[in-house]
Amino acid sequence: MDAIATVLKTGDGFDWRGRFGADPETSYVLPARHYWDPGIYQREMGAIFHRTWQMAGHLSRLREPGDYFTFTVGDQNLFAVRGKDGEVRAFYNVCSHRAHELLKGEGRSRVITCPYHAWSFHADGKLRTARGSEKVAGFDKDEFCLKQVRTETFCGFLFANLDPDAPTLASLTGNLENEIRSYCPDIDKLVRARRLHYELKANWKNVVDNFLECYHCPPAHPAFTDLVAIPTYRTKTYGCYSSHISEPHTGRSKAYSFDASDPNVRTEFAAWWLWPNVAFNVFPGCANIAVLHIMPDGPERSREHFDFYFLDEQATAEQEEAIRYTDEILQAEDIGLVESVQRGLKSRGYHQGRYVVDKERTDISEHGLHHFHGLVLQALEART
Ligand code: FES
Ligand SMILES: [Fe+2]
Repeated sequence: MDAIATVLKTGDGFDWRGRFGADPETSYVLPARHYWDPGIYQREMGAIFHRTWQMAGHLSRLREPGDYFTFTVGDQNLFAVRGKDGEVRAFYNVCSHRAHELLKGEGRSRVITCPYHAWSFHADGKLRTARGSEKVAGFDKDEFCLKQVRTETFCGFLFANLDPDAPTLASLTGNLENEIRSYCPDIDKLVRARRLHYELKANWKNVVDNFLECYHCPPAHPAFTDLVAIPTYRTKTYGCYSSHISEPHTGRSKAYSFDASDPNVRTEFAAWWLWPNVAFNVFPGCANIAVLHIMPDGPERSREHFDFYFLDEQATAEQEEAIRYTDEILQAEDIGLVESVQRGLKSRGYHQGRYVVDKERTDISEHGLHHFHGLVLQALEART
């Protein structure tokens, strides 16, 4: 029996849709329990994280044969590596002998050697050596290759999917790549200049929710409202992604400085969220993309990577200022909000609020949030 049914059967009669409805203008938000119930969290692992395309990392970090990096998909550890045939593959990060983790962090190694008993593997996943196995009755090396998972590239990023039956990422993303490229024409030339890392006391959906609406921008992000013209902020939803685009503020930005008269500088803010937990952001300034990856880390915890990609690994003074603004102001503000919400979601005084959605889908409208919640419920219901 699946986790939700277990929660429902043995629990207190929780109605996990509650007053959530198909129309964002009349719907209530997700019931609070979705944000802390361990049974629902477990179900999300199988129904969402083990079935969707997940950000692994940027291909510029896998230039040479043997280059690898580790990454997580929900509760699973994986790594990606470039083989000597030039192919990039991703595997579960586990030794086929007795399950020790194979790799940590990132680096280059043509042979993958387990730290426990030194079984070694080729970068294509084949078992290379297993000390003493020649004396083991019926030992078949082919039986102990590493378990590979599906990968696909998108805008220079490697994505992985643990579900062999999932639709291709290309079939799901439609026009998204063209749209991102139109705001970031140099995307193929970008390299990672910085990673910001955060650990949050908040369910992963609570963090995604915060990304998907700008209703909170004027009260919570005073500097952001000087960077972009909030009244022009528009959210559009598509099958499995949404776009969040705003024209520049005409006054001087208090967030960080950039030369708006430079023809190489873009002045709009453009962001795209891709189901379920990654967002691409193009901030005003020279060619850039900042990837926000929100990773679940327990029913009430999550981790974030905020990776900044520029034309050069060495950020300019202007880019350093933009990173500092994102880290010390924008992220600090958002983390304070979502951690407060997480405490509130456990309050006996709260159950299920309403979306603020207007017919015109203006800057304050929370329809992007409703779109996300609909996908969450659809995934939970589809899982058997
Ligand atoms: S667990 Fe890897 S060699 Fe034994
Ligand atoms: Fe925010």
